[in-house]
Amino acid sequence: MVVLGLESSCDETAAAVVENGERILASVVASQVLTHERFGGVVPELASREHLQKIGLVVDEALAQAHLRLDQIEGLAVTEGPGLIGSLLVGLVYGKALALSLAKPLVGVNHLEGHIHAVLLENKMARQAGAAVPEATPPAVALVVSGGHTSLFLVKARTADGSHLFSYQPLGQTRDDAAGEAFDKVAKLLALGYPGGSVIDSLARFGNVQAVDFGRIKMKGNPLDFSFAGIKTAVLYRVRGTELAAEAEARRAWCKAARGRVSTDDLRAHCSEPTLDLIASFQNAVVTDLVERTVAAAEHAGVLTILVSGGVACNSLLRARFHQAAEERHLGVFFPSPELSTDNAAMIAAAGYYKLLAGQRADTSLTAHATFPLGG
Ligand code: KG4
Ligand code: ZN
Repeated sequence: MVVLGLESSCDETAAAVVENGERILASVVASQVLTHERFGGVVPELASREHLQKIGLVVDEALAQAHLRLDQIEGLAVTEGPGLIGSLLVGLVYGKALALSLAKPLVGVNHLEGHIHAVLLENKMARQAGAAVPEATPPAVALVVSGGHTSLFLVKARTADGSHLFSYQPLGQTRDDAAGEAFDKVAKLLALGYPGGSVIDSLARFGNVQAVDFGRIKMKGNPLDFSFAGIKTAVLYRVRGTELAAEAEARRAWCKAARGRVSTDDLRAHCSEPTLDLIASFQNAVVTDLVERTVAAAEHAGVLTILVSGGVACNSLLRARFHQAAEERHLGVFFPSPELSTDNAAMIAAAGYYKLLAGQRADTSLTAHATFPLGG
C-alpha cells in the first residue's frame, strides 16, 4: 500500500510517500527556520500562513520524487495533534480534501507516535538494504525528545487483536520545558542563533563539561518525569549581569551584522572559554538526565530495547551516552538518521500505514488537537 503522509504540526511543512510502511519513496520537508529565526522561536500565525503557501508544493514535489500520480496513492495519513492548531489544520484539511476527492482512505496520526515510527521505519529500511543491524522491535521504551516534547513511553505490540499496531503507555514526561526548548532558550540567551540545539551540539565539544556543576535534576513524585526549566534558569543566573551577558550582546550585534550567516568556527571564535564551558556543562547536564531516566524506565519496565527520536535525538553527546549505556547494560538502542529525527512526513505515513492496514478510517469529523495525549 502506497501511503501519502502529511505533517504540519509546527514549523516544517512535510509530505512523504511510503510503501508498505517500510520503504520511503519520497520525503520532502520545507523548513520555516528562516521565517522564525529573527524571533528566536516559532510564531504560530506566521507558521500557519507559510504552511498554506507550501503544502501544495511539498505534496507535488513528493509525488514527483516518487514518480507517482495522485491517483496512484492508496491511502493518506495526516498529523492530527499535538501541535499548533492553525498549523495542524492546514495539513489536516488538505489531507481530508484530497482523501475525499480521490475517494481514498484517510487516518489521523499522533505526532509522537509518528516520531516513534521514524525509528522503526529506518531500522526496517537498513535491514532490507542488508545492513548488519539488530531488529528494533517492541517491547521497548521510547524517548521522544524534541522542541515541543520530552516523553517516555512503554511501547508494546498489540498481539491480542492480531493487528500490527502498538500500544503506548506513558511512563513520564516533562513538567515544564521540553529538552529542545531548553537548548533553544539557552542558545537565545547566549546569542548563538536559532534553532539552538544543533549549534550548542557543535560548540559544546570545545568546552569543559565539568566546569559548571548544575547538580542532578531532582523530581518529586514520578522519577520518570523530566524538568528542564530549573537548569535553563540556572544558566540565566550565571549569565545575567556578568561578563558573559556583555559578551552575548556583542555576539548578538555581530550575528546581526553578519545577517545570521555565521559558521560554527566563526561563532566559536566569538565565544570565550567560560561561555564554551557553560554550553558544554549545560548540554552534559541535560543529556545525562535524559539518558539516566530513559535507562531507568527500561529497567523499570523490564525491556531491553530503547527507541530515541525527535529533534534532540540528533545530539551527538546524547547518541554517544546512549550507546555507552547500552553497551554497559546490554540494551539495544536505536535512533533514526538526523533527517528522520526531526519533523518529517515519512514517519506519519509509516505510522498511518499500520492503522490503514488494521482497517482504521477517519471520517469527516477528523479534526486537529493542540493537546493530544498518546496512550494512557
Ligand atoms: O522534532 P523537531 O524537529 O520539532 C519538534 O517537534 O519540536 O525538533 C526540533 C528541536 C529544536 O528544539 C532543536 O533545537 C532540537 O530539536 N535539536 C537539537 C539538535 N538538533 C535539533 N537539540 C540538541 N542537539 C542537536 N544536535
Ligand atoms: Zn516533532
